[in-house]
Amino acid sequence: MRLLEACHRRPVDATPIWLMRQAGRYLPEYRAIKEKLSFIEMCKDPAVATEVTLQPLQRFELDAAIVFADILLPLEGMGIGFRFSRDDGPVIDHTVRSAADLEGVRVVEPARDVPYLLETIRLVRAEVEGKVPLIGFAGAPFTLASYVVEGAHSRHYAEIKKLMYGDPQTYARLMDLLTDSIVVYLQAQVEAGAQVLQVFDSWVGCLSPYDYERLVLPWSRRVLHGVSDLGVPVIHFANGASSMLPLVARAGGDVVGIDWHIDLDEAWRQLDETAESPSGGFAVQGNLDPIALLGPGAEVEARAADVLARARGRVGHLFNLGHGLIPAVPPDNVKRLVDFVHGWKVG
Ligand code: CP3
Repeated sequence: MRLLEACHRRPVDATPIWLMRQAGRYLPEYRAIKEKLSFIEMCKDPAVATEVTLQPLQRFELDAAIVFADILLPLEGMGIGFRFSRDDGPVIDHTVRSAADLEGVRVVEPARDVPYLLETIRLVRAEVEGKVPLIGFAGAPFTLASYVVEGAHSRHYAEIKKLMYGDPQTYARLMDLLTDSIVVYLQAQVEAGAQVLQVFDSWVGCLSPYDYERLVLPWSRRVLHGVSDLGVPVIHFANGASSMLPLVARAGGDVVGIDWHIDLDEAWRQLDETAESPSGGFAVQGNLDPIALLGPGAEVEARAADVLARARGRVGHLFNLGHGLIPAVPPDNVKRLVDFVHGWKVG
């Protein structure tokens, strides 16, 4: 399976491609299910979650399936309830902003708390066996902490920064609980059948390198090192962090995900120069601007060609977007992108 080969930096017959948020609202067959069920109901019903996971693979020749789930799912078992509001995404009503707010918060127990996710992984794995690998995922500690402290998606991240700067003990305690939870949550996904893991640090782009190094990297490192011996490759995607890639690499991962704010060749060059770079370098994932998919098909191809040319046929490139697909993307453009990437001559 060429995506696994690329993760291990071995030669491939064509560049593998999968897309963050490849299942979702841009697909009419997803919207049809969404009319009847809420997003959480979809996640919690393994038959539905399996169907939705497979929807994009039925349309496009994608090189991986990613389990239909969400980074917030482990929070419920930790004692931190959340809901999805219709327009604003995730909402946490009881935010953690002081030591007292952490009372009763515990490490997740996957078999007890997310049995539906593990069952979905088993079902999807049986469907894709021998065809494409299945990716399991989790949020990184900082990104989950940002939801737990802010209560929702945030513009300035003022509350979490106030906690980091003003009450570092409570911040550290929260990050410890999240870190321990994420490690067991990812382990359970591998035991259930996930063949690759991705850790999403979606919101670290709000931080200075100074704060990332001191207040995020140590915990991300604990997660990435905590899952490094499970026998599956791990993709570390720190969104908005192209100005601090050497620090991201220090946290770990076999594959480093790159957003679109840096050219792929320049990102790869920086990763090669870090002390942590394995012999032969890191594998990289990326990095087309997701909004490029709204353009005319010929422009989608021109931008994809630029990314592919910068990879120069080097082993270890997983084509992806620099962040997730948005609902307005025409499915025909996704097909055009996938076919174009596969048609590109590698090596
Ligand atoms: O990639 C995939 O196809 C797998 C499914 C997946 C979802 N969420 C489903 C989803 C994955 C990998 C995620 C990860 C996730 N969730 C992240 C990290 C990735 C990233 O974008 O940085 C984050 C930050 C979340 C939190 C989250 N979940 C937000 C901010 C939102 C609302 C925004 C939005 O796009 O609606 C969600 C809801 C969500 N998660 C949806 C889906 C398909 C939309 C639900 C709907 O149909 O209304």
